[in-house]
Amino acid sequence: MAKERFVESYRGARPEDLPWYDPDPDPDLLVLFDEVLPASGARVLDLGAGPAVHSIELAARGHRVVAIDGVAEARDMALTLAARRGVTLDYRVGDALHDGPEGPFDLVFDRGFLHTLEPAERRTWRAAVTRSLVRGGALILKCFDVRPPRDFGPPGLTARDVLHALGEPVMGGLALELLRRTAFGLNEAKDHAAWTVFARRL
Ligand SMILES: C[S@@+](CC[C@H](N)C(=O)[O-])C[C@H]1O[C@@H](n2cnc3c(N)ncnc32)[C@H](O)[C@@H]1O
Repeated sequence: MAKERFVESYRGARPEDLPWYDPDPDPDLLVLFDEVLPASGARVLDLGAGPAVHSIELAARGHRVVAIDGVAEARDMALTLAARRGVTLDYRVGDALHDGPEGPFDLVFDRGFLHTLEPAERRTWRAAVTRSLVRGGALILKCFDVRPPRDFGPPGLTARDVLHALGEPVMGGLALELLRRTAFGLNEAKDHAAWTVFARRL
């Protein structure tokens, strides 16, 4: 289940109080949406969706989005933002690792969820991703790079950690198609190094 620190982060918070909130979707992720998804109608699962900026964008484009987060206040915040944009979201409160919504989905989206997990939980994360995806379905992932060191947030992943989290490209597993060093803007003047990843379920 979502850790207590996330419950605390959302308590009484406005979106702009959250370090991971940006009112605008990340440009690199918008490019990937254009490249990977049909114009509309894809079934999308957003793991650890938080304020769900990207889910809202995808729903506005006509995709069928299910978002899940462990914190009820995150859902309430996201539904308020969605209503402002004039879209509805199917937003579940639960453990994204163990109680994910029934699939299958064409896209599993993870922006900043994997990197909050303990390394020992990454295998469980991979199982949650693969069981949610239709064969040939896409994973779009964005997580912190370990370098350069930051004085806040989780430590991040190396490129090797990302590959390890994806696992071997065996049948039913995930095959990496793109691993690009990018950045989170994260509400601050400076960018924070990130990995943007696209993989497909075999
Ligand atoms: C760094 S935030 C990113 C939120 C969102 N994806 C975004 O980009 O704005 C990580 C989110 O994961 C959620 N979370 C952490 N562990 C979870 C779990 N086991 N199940 C569901 N949500 C979880 C937290 O509540 C938090 O909203």
